[in-house]
Amino acid sequence: MLKKTVLKALNAQINAEFFSAYMYLGMSAWCEDRNLPGFAAWMRKQFEEEQKHALKIFDYVLEQNEAVSLPPIAQPPAVYKSLQEIWEETYAHEQHVTSLIHKVYALAMKEQDFATQGLMQWYVTEQVEEEQQASAILEQVKMVGTNSSAIFFLDRHVSKSRGE
Ligand code: FEO
Repeated sequence: MLKKTVLKALNAQINAEFFSAYMYLGMSAWCEDRNLPGFAAWMRKQFEEEQKHALKIFDYVLEQNEAVSLPPIAQPPAVYKSLQEIWEETYAHEQHVTSLIHKVYALAMKEQDFATQGLMQWYVTEQVEEEQQASAILEQVKMVGTNSSAIFFLDRHVSKSRGE
């Protein structure tokens, strides 16, 4: 049993995680289209990760015998100016997701909902890694700039770096 406010916030977070998945899938297509298979693979893996994030909350809501709501997922951007813009967007997006997670956590604290706090703690920790990865790759992308042979090697390196 969940408080209505907490249920609403959790359902909104399910949608936000699915939007993230959709956004990374769009980025994967952009990278694939520009012959960047390593970046495309990274983004596709992230698409899968984000679906797991959504489903973890989805399962929790059902375990609490509450109703999951699945409103439409917003259309993500399909056009980017450059690889650097993709990574700037990724980093900014993960910072945004962190702020959403913190709001759900703060609400669970206010409502003295200890089980939801436990669930959200996993996301708080996960977001530290998500931001760190995005920021590190953004810095590498900035470093190589428009040097095509450096981009070629970075593309190969990025796909191996996940090691999953
Ligand atoms: Fe589910 Fe990338 O945060």
